[in-house]
Amino acid sequence: MEPYRIKAVEPLPLTTRAQRETALRRVHYNLFDLHADEVTIDLLTDSGTGALSAAQWAAGMAGDESYAGSRSYHRFHEVVRELTSYPHVLPVHQGRAAERILFSALLKPGRITLSNTHFDTTRANVELCGGLAVDLPCPQARDLDSDDPFKGDIDLDRLKETLSGPDASRVAVVVMTLTNNGQGGQPVSMDNLARAAELCREHEVPFFLDAARFAENAWLVTQHEPAYRDVSPREVAEQAFRLADGCLMSAKKDGIVHIGGFLGLRDTALAERCRLLLVATEGFPTYGGLAGRDLDMVAQGLTEVTDPHYLRSRADAARHLARLAREAGISILEPPGLHAVYLNAGRLLPHIAPHRFPGHALACQLYLEGGIRSVELGSLYLGKEDADGNPVATAPFELLRLALPRRTYTFSHLDHVGEVLAATARDRDRIPGYRLVEQPPILRHFQSRLEPVRR
Ligand code: F0G
Repeated sequence: MEPYRIKAVEPLPLTTRAQRETALRRVHYNLFDLHADEVTIDLLTDSGTGALSAAQWAAGMAGDESYAGSRSYHRFHEVVRELTSYPHVLPVHQGRAAERILFSALLKPGRITLSNTHFDTTRANVELCGGLAVDLPCPQARDLDSDDPFKGDIDLDRLKETLSGPDASRVAVVVMTLTNNGQGGQPVSMDNLARAAELCREHEVPFFLDAARFAENAWLVTQHEPAYRDVSPREVAEQAFRLADGCLMSAKKDGIVHIGGFLGLRDTALAERCRLLLVATEGFPTYGGLAGRDLDMVAQGLTEVTDPHYLRSRADAARHLARLAREAGISILEPPGLHAVYLNAGRLLPHIAPHRFPGHALACQLYLEGGIRSVELGSLYLGKEDADGNPVATAPFELLRLALPRRTYTFSHLDHVGEVLAATARDRDRIPGYRLVEQPPILRHFQSRLEPVRR
């Protein structure tokens, strides 16, 4: 059961199928354009969508809104420093602001960043600085069906090769994403993290964590890495941060807040450069784009998120949803992580070609069937077509992500999702593909217009 009870409730928007059909036509089959009050269960993202605890709301009320040196900042700094050990902590409004500041300070055109997998904003910020973002996921990540517990790892052989190869002098930083959102939210083992850190130390390359889901990663380490079976998630997290030179943090995930983030750093000279950018673009270093109350809420969230009872119930929820999907006959990216369940839409809908977007087709159907919003991670997100709509590049897998907001939906909400999955799978042959009617030049999945096609 969930280790909390509910104190404030919000009605779920309940709609009819006819209303959903009209809404979907109005937004040209782009779920990002729906009004949130047309969505019954919103599984679009786990970012900034969690429920705050009573203690977080109380901490927010006690927030100090002084421009400089607020009590809130000092509490926040103390909590982050104890967790991470980094002496320099720069608050930012969300994760991508930390990315922009770090990469602006570290990168010059032509320099390379390496990662187990860059998240898409991380990659975009590297590229905006003229850098080249190279992903080195481990080979197990290519097998969606295997239940290997650490498919989020970096490929250590390729990391070693790159750090000693002809491009070695161009490598500016290695970023390990915990958990690996781009690879289905799979975790990174402590063994992999320690070996990657060691290689970076040998080659004198800064080693950073993208720690957005550090607590969920720590939980999976305690469950699957024998050496950590009797270690608490908090202790695992502390050890992980101590292996690195700093971190990028979107507190909208494992800070369990609606907005916030930080950049943690060991190196004083680098911190000075970042602080200048922070003042110019985010805010004075003791608030960095956040209100005092936000800093207090992050501080409180970070002390709650490593609670083993909370993490266990989150893992149980993901496993429950994964089981409902499998029972409905829908394969998922195995094993399920904590923040989302990824459905294998390509396998469910073999009659829909990649450039007719099986993941998107499934997303539209789940909305029509039960008011569920989700996000495609397949050829709509990663593919390209020529001017006549013929495919030039398709994604390696056609996936659909059902993300789980923190402390927001109960097991009975997930049962509703399970019923919708079952009804959708029963009627799979009738689900149409989609054709792009209009698309922007970049990040097309946010803004494109589509229409159903039956071929
Ligand atoms: N890093 C990872 C691993 C992320 O998943 C995200 C955001 C960011 C960085 C950027 O953080 O949104 O605070 O600027 N992921 C969200 C998602 C948007 O839906 O997966 P942000």
